[in-house]
Amino acid sequence: MPHPAIALPRLMAHRGLSAHAPENTLTAVRAACEAGFPWVELDVQLLGDATPVIWHDATVRRCSDGRARLVDLDLPRARRLDTGAWFCDRFRSERMATLREMLALIEELGMGLNLELKVTRGRNPAALVDGVLPTLLDALPPERLILSSFHDGALARARELADSSRLALGVLFEGIGREWQSRCAAVDAYSVHANWKRLSQRGAQAVREAGYHLLCYTANDPTAFAHQWAWGVESVISDDPACFVGHLPD
Ligand code: G3P
Ligand code: MG
Repeated sequence: MPHPAIALPRLMAHRGLSAHAPENTLTAVRAACEAGFPWVELDVQLLGDATPVIWHDATVRRCSDGRARLVDLDLPRARRLDTGAWFCDRFRSERMATLREMLALIEELGMGLNLELKVTRGRNPAALVDGVLPTLLDALPPERLILSSFHDGALARARELADSSRLALGVLFEGIGREWQSRCAAVDAYSVHANWKRLSQRGAQAVREAGYHLLCYTANDPTAFAHQWAWGVESVISDDPACFVGHLPD
């Protein structure tokens, strides 16, 4: 089945422009857009009350002034957290973004989204997908959306709900092992998202020869990354994508 005609950018801002603003926030996404990076990678999970929110960790310790597990928070409690001051005092008063709010911003700015389904230990992948997908598909056109995950069950559930022409799926890999092709085929993947430090030339070439798009995360050193472009990597997910400008292939 054909995939959406996505104009893959060379650079995507990881968790928004996370080198310069608190990760996974509305401010980090606006910052990415203002810096000239119209595609962002963001993480999504469910709060305990099943509200989808843009958040990376299983707890709020690292990126807020609270300590709770996400599963123990409902939206009113999550909203009381300051999710900006941990990064820098000038971001004080930033709040955790719901998926809905984030999608509204991305649509308003005409941006593209690589949304990572983050399935943390003990959480239900199908509940996450079912909670996210209808809102997501309503909000963005297929050409500006990739849904990605490390979790094969989550990707399989997403594929059950949306066919390949409507939804591009990205399979996340640490290393491209023997099983890579069956993981991709099982969900009619659009793309492979590889940890750039563990990607080999052989692995990259195999992915490209099989017809999958190839993205790398999370690279912040353009000099060290020169080989990967030559191997056929199309897009880099970076905390600081501006550092790659001037180091991109033609
Ligand atoms: O989507 C690529 C990358 O974000 C995966 O790792 O831990 O930063 O979500 P992580
Ligand atoms: Mg991520």
